[in-house]
Amino acid sequence: MSQTIKLGVLGSGSGSNMQAILDAIEAGTLDAEIVLVLSDNPDGYILERARKAGIPAEVIDCGGFKTKFPDESQSAVAAQLKAAGVKLVCLAGFMRLVKQPMLDIFPERILNIHPSLLPAYPGLMAWKQAVADGARESGCTVHYVDAGMDTGPIIKQAKVAVIAGDTAETLHARIQLEEHSLYPEVIAAIAAQQ
Ligand code: GRF
Repeated sequence: MSQTIKLGVLGSGSGSNMQAILDAIEAGTLDAEIVLVLSDNPDGYILERARKAGIPAEVIDCGGFKTKFPDESQSAVAAQLKAAGVKLVCLAGFMRLVKQPMLDIFPERILNIHPSLLPAYPGLMAWKQAVADGARESGCTVHYVDAGMDTGPIIKQAKVAVIAGDTAETLHARIQLEEHSLYPEVIAAIAAQQ
C-alpha cells in the first residue's frame, strides 16, 4: 500500500489553492498531508488558513529583497521542507522564481499552478493578459517547475471559455474555480504513483 505523501506548500497570497488541497484531503479524495506552509509574505492569508488548520506555517526570510529569492533563502527553505519530511512541493500563488538550489534538492518534485493554458500567457496576471488579448479561451495549467518562468513540463490543463463581457476579475474567478479541482486532482495522481 502506498504511503500518504507529505506536501509542503509555498504561497504569497490568499491561499485558496492550498485550501482546496486541504479540502480534498479532508474529503478523502486526496491521500496526502500538508506538513508545512511557507510564505514570503508575512501578511499572506495562506499563513492564517494553515494555522487555522493546525499546520505549521512560517515566513520565509528573503533578506529584504522585494522580488528576488536569494540562494541562501532557497537553501534554508529546502532544508526546512526536508526536515519536515516533504516529498512534493506545491507552489500555490508563490510570487518568486524558484531556481537552484531548490531544484537540485527537489528534482522533478516541485509543482506549480498557473492561471492560463501554458505556453500562452506566462508571467504575472495571466487572466488579465488573456482578456486584453481578446482570447476566446483560457484556463489553468499544473506543471513541474524548472528554472524558467512558467516553462516546466506540463502535467495537466483545464480550459475555461472567455465569455462576452468578461473582465479580468470575472475570468480570474472562473479560472480559480477550475484550479481548485485541477490541482488536488494532479497531486492525487502523482501521490498514487509513489
Ligand atoms: C492562482 O490564480 C494561481 O494560479 C496563481 O496565483 C493564484 C494564487 O491564488 N499562480 P491563491 O493564493 O491560491 O488563492
